[in-house]
Amino acid sequence: MKPFVVKDKSIPSGKISLPGDKSIAHRALIISALSSGKTIIKNFPVCDDSLATLNAMAALGVKILRSNKQVLVCGLPSRGLSEPNGTIFTGNSGTTLRLLLGVLAGQDFTTKLVSGKYLSLRPMARVNLPLRMMGAEITARNIGSDEYPPIVITGNKLKGISYRLPVASAQVKSAILLAGLFAFGKTRVIQPVKTRDHTERMLKLFGVKITVNKNSVILNPDKSLASPGEIYIPGDISSAAFFMVLGAIIPGARVSIQRVSLNPSRCGIINVLKRMQAEIKVFPLKGKKAQTFEPMGNLRITSSRLKATVINSSEIPSLVDELPVLMVAACFAQGRTIIKGAGELRVKETDRINSMVRNLKRMGADIRTVKSGVEENIVIQGKARLNGAKLKSFGDHRTAMSMVVAALAAEGKSKIDDISCISKSFPGFLAALKSLIKR
Ligand code: S3P
Repeated sequence: MKPFVVKDKSIPSGKISLPGDKSIAHRALIISALSSGKTIIKNFPVCDDSLATLNAMAALGVKILRSNKQVLVCGLPSRGLSEPNGTIFTGNSGTTLRLLLGVLAGQDFTTKLVSGKYLSLRPMARVNLPLRMMGAEITARNIGSDEYPPIVITGNKLKGISYRLPVASAQVKSAILLAGLFAFGKTRVIQPVKTRDHTERMLKLFGVKITVNKNSVILNPDKSLASPGEIYIPGDISSAAFFMVLGAIIPGARVSIQRVSLNPSRCGIINVLKRMQAEIKVFPLKGKKAQTFEPMGNLRITSSRLKATVINSSEIPSLVDELPVLMVAACFAQGRTIIKGAGELRVKETDRINSMVRNLKRMGADIRTVKSGVEENIVIQGKARLNGAKLKSFGDHRTAMSMVVAALAAEGKSKIDDISCISKSFPGFLAALKSLIKR
């Protein structure tokens, strides 16, 4: 693979729209597969992760037709899923694997789930544990005190539980709620901090009784799921983040992003960048164009001189996937930025603290990690510039895209070893980027 070279600098300007939000797409596929009726999913993100969920649901007997960005799901309500022929491959999609485990916990058959090389190294005890408490039988590869794919799960008659999440994870919460659909009695999940609420919103849209009270979510499984007919997936705010930071840090830049998700549980990136004095205008869509179940709108970002900030651990779930590119923004901000409680970044597709710190240091950034009790903080002293360098993607799309942004804002030439991971997760990234820096 030839390295990706960034040398010609230009000022990003223009308007882009992005593929649908991956998190919402996984839920749309799974929940419509469990409902009565047909669902048309529009603006579906065609990438490895969401296709992993689509193929998994098809392997469980659900009829799904896809034509480019539009998907038709023919739901199979009331335990209509069937035992797959052979193993299900979840690729490197943690959301696919964890959410699927929740669904499979309530089926009357056994499924073996195998994963790609990155996901096979990610901890799964956090989801296996509560699902076992509900009644599922699960075996996984044990290393030390944690569990890893491959996973074999045999569903059972489940009972609802009240479960306090030890880590703030939307994937774990969602797995428990999805299992709760098949359980006897109510299921309650108490989160240490609010995490993205796409599962709750999607289940409500399909008629499920869900009550949210502060950080706890209660699901009452006494109603069957009914399709709303059509779902439009707003643009992915985690993908928008790279262009937001690009627009904020390159002098003279002006970037507009159309129809992007404005779900408050995902807007941490907007709040933090605004706090850093980024010029971001948010235009929520209103009237007929608006969606009630998942809000969306347009964004306009104009470059500005950024100021450092403190990101508190309670904010992390609302921007966890955006932290790599926020580290890039912090390098260009005046003063010292502290990201508190960033430890979860070590168990994402790769160890994103390691990859970002190593890359940014190569560019001359002043960035370090500091232990504070059980928490891990990242401290970045902003500088006026970064220098081009030889960089590594570590096979992680978010690290790779963050480094493309850093390289575009740096002085001199940068080379990134291999960015093929970007096209697997966000195929339109380079095209959108080129449309902004075409002149
Ligand atoms: C996701 C939740 C987050 C996030 C991931 C997608 C989801 O993971 O990092 O990319 O769709 O629920 P955790 O639940 O592990 O924090």
